[in-house]
Amino acid sequence: MVVVANRLPVRRVEHNGEMHWDLSPGGLVSALTPVLTGGAGMWIGWPGGGVEMAVPAEHEGIELRAVPLDDAEFEQFYLGFSNATLWPLYHDAVRTPTFHREWWYAYMSVNDRYARAVAGAAAPGANVWVHDYQLQLVPKMLRALRPDLRIGFFLHIPFPPQELFMQLPWRRSILEGLLGADLVGFQVQGAAANFSRVARRVVGASGTDSVLNYDGRQVRVGAFPISVDTIGLIKRASDPAVQRRARQIREELGSPDVVMLGVDRLDYTKGIDRRLIAIGELFADGLLTGPQAVLVQIGIPSREDDPHYRREREHLEQLVGEINGAYSTVGRPAIHYLYQSVEVDELVALYLAADIMLVTPLRDGMNLVAKEYVACRVDNTGALVLSEFAGASQELRDAILVNPHDLDGLKQAIRHAVDLDPNEGTARMRRMRRVVRRHDVQAWAHAFLGALRADSRHISTSPDPGLDPGSTPN
Ligand code: G6P
Repeated sequence: MVVVANRLPVRRVEHNGEMHWDLSPGGLVSALTPVLTGGAGMWIGWPGGGVEMAVPAEHEGIELRAVPLDDAEFEQFYLGFSNATLWPLYHDAVRTPTFHREWWYAYMSVNDRYARAVAGAAAPGANVWVHDYQLQLVPKMLRALRPDLRIGFFLHIPFPPQELFMQLPWRRSILEGLLGADLVGFQVQGAAANFSRVARRVVGASGTDSVLNYDGRQVRVGAFPISVDTIGLIKRASDPAVQRRARQIREELGSPDVVMLGVDRLDYTKGIDRRLIAIGELFADGLLTGPQAVLVQIGIPSREDDPHYRREREHLEQLVGEINGAYSTVGRPAIHYLYQSVEVDELVALYLAADIMLVTPLRDGMNLVAKEYVACRVDNTGALVLSEFAGASQELRDAILVNPHDLDGLKQAIRHAVDLDPNEGTARMRRMRRVVRRHDVQAWAHAFLGALRADSRHISTSPDPGLDPGSTPN
């Protein structure tokens, strides 16, 4: 089993003045660790630097192979084609995507390097699982080098509708790249349908939204909604020390009646400004009053070399400043804004401290913060305000669903969350918790790998839970 992702599952951390490697936090790593440990698995990815970065050959039983990027590749492949072409295009073009041929050449050459690294390392007949938008050409390139491998691809972000995808000058190559896999997985059925539609239109694939015939092979397509490490989060949320910290956070905030929370990578797709504007207007209308109501907004630094991200940060910090200037009192800010990463236990304590979680992306493949909040609410209290444009909204139907473009609707939703009858709130949270307990990240990995290992005949007669049974071929 080989996992290929843009990033390795380890990060450099400082401990007692010394640098060492640690497993990265997050669901993907915790889901795949059990599958990869014990000498049977390998992870190939970028260590976050160039050749000078000495990565250990193994970490906690997982074999690691680094694919370093030099400065030009960091600019053109990572910041450029991955994050300034594909990222905005795939997120409904909420920022205008930039198309540069040099970036495309770098994308091809880095994908080729990844494919060669896998081809040189995978055992005969191994299962290879390729992840995300940075590596869409790898399946085809790898198949050409190693036809014996079974190749799965999973896209963590949305796959755009035809009208947007068609803008991409290299749309054919991207589709051919993905169709090199045996199984292509998406977060939601709509994304799988978008992909199958353009595959039929642009490269002449035939078949249904769940099995495409292309180049004399069958490519299976399906929705596999990713989830969180529910049991791990429940354990942390039940830890008395974490619960004490949650109470302490509320006290440090001045023991307000209502604590609202936002936690996002600071990204222009996350709709953080919509949420701040709505909160500011609620204060202005007197529908929320400080210091009884506060918002804690965590913005996790991300892609800071990209001008769109720098501008977004300035925009948000200006909004926070304006709202705080108008509605704070001395020692009691209306918005507590942190631009920093947060350790997992502190994050769980924040989830426990928050009466209302605000998740308002303009477009999001899934959004794991929404699922993490639900998983952590072990006493079944708390309300989730969730954008209908996040993949998570298809499963968490008991959230208060909003269109983040509709500011009046967003204000009403936040007010609704504040006023929610406690019995109704508990019933909703119970139902949402059932969803994340039944379908955690382990179940997700199991469903995808089960489908990858099964042959297509098996899938069409007995669909995997991850595949939409309604759209299997007849
Ligand atoms: C999203 C993407 C991942 C990416 C992560 C962090 O979740 O789907 O592929 O790794 O953001 O972004 P970064 O650019 O720092 O890797």
